[in-house]
Amino acid sequence: MNRLNNCLENKKYSGIPIWFMRQAGRYLPEFIEIRKKNQDFLKLCFNQDLSTQISLQPLKRFDLDAVILFSDILVIPFGLGQNVKFEKGFGPKLEKVNLEKIINTDKKDFLNKVSPVYEIIKNIKKKININEKSIIGFVGAPWTLLLYMLNQQSPKRNFEIEKIIKDQELVKNLLKKLEEIICLHIEKQIEAGATVIQIFDSWAGLLPKKELLKYCFEPNLNIVNFVKSKKTPVICFPRDIGQEYLEFSNIVKPSCLSIDYNIDPKWVVNNFNSLPIQGGLDPKILLTDSKNIKKNVEKYLEVFKDYPYIFNLGHGVLPETKPETINSIIQIVRNFKK
Ligand code: CP3
Repeated sequence: MNRLNNCLENKKYSGIPIWFMRQAGRYLPEFIEIRKKNQDFLKLCFNQDLSTQISLQPLKRFDLDAVILFSDILVIPFGLGQNVKFEKGFGPKLEKVNLEKIINTDKKDFLNKVSPVYEIIKNIKKKININEKSIIGFVGAPWTLLLYMLNQQSPKRNFEIEKIIKDQELVKNLLKKLEEIICLHIEKQIEAGATVIQIFDSWAGLLPKKELLKYCFEPNLNIVNFVKSKKTPVICFPRDIGQEYLEFSNIVKPSCLSIDYNIDPKWVVNNFNSLPIQGGLDPKILLTDSKNIKKNVEKYLEVFKDYPYIFNLGHGVLPETKPETINSIIQIVRNFKK
């Protein structure tokens, strides 16, 4: 039985589906080992053998319901000809946007650069039982990608919304191109074997309320409709938009909403009807003692007891997390009696 896909497709299943954002990553010694020998992060993302191996690493250790493709949302700007580097201790650094170059990148040019990603999915599919495990493909949402492209670095460091959206003509052209290429990237991931798509709008929470419709809801809606046309369930993560999650879901109608840790899960259960909800737990909780971890995991399980719920975190696993903590959380979830 495939718990995650069944939950997303409103079919029968038992137990609570569980996977973790960033389940493949720097908290795993076996990832660090490979990473040490592969300093160029994007090159690693396009290395078919190593990325297949990394995607499967968490499943070797843990009883999870899904594999998430090991890749990055920034392969899209890279595929559009904007150079991206990942600097140790700094994060991504992007070169200045050259609109003409981006607009002139056609689908074939993009696929020439990015197609190893689809081979990784095909490899994963050969190595797991897809009747039991989901294969999660993913993309960044247009706003989050636009933000990285124009800000040239994480908005955590340096960011002014007025600067980003100042040149409306540029923004309009980039968003249009991004939407088209995001759909292409999704289509190819589904063709290769992805059975679920997650859309990361990690920086939706930076948008003022009056801009949410234009930059977050409408672009997500267009992409969700595309994924649905491919008969594939789609999880949206418009991170940190607070009670606007409700308006988002009414407009976008994803198969599932992934929530962050700033929203009260009780508010979510009381305000949503039957839309599957994923995640919520603060990843920082995983760095505390086992009693506190159990208490907080069980809080989410109790709140969502009579509700379609996928266990996950409110953002990615932090590098300081002990692998054993992931295992203990899975045991709590598996042993929880609904
Ligand atoms: O396990 C998984 O979740 C799959 C792999 C995955 C990665 N990035 C690998 C990665 C996924 C789904 C992503 C998505 C991603 N990438 C997002 C959306 C989710 C989120 O975190 O909000 C964003 C915003 C990015 C862009 C990105 N990639 C940043 C800002 C950074 C540097 C900061 C950081 O978290 O390390 C990355 C690097 C990155 N992507 C790493 C991994 C495992 C760390 C690479 C390393 O230094 O070893």
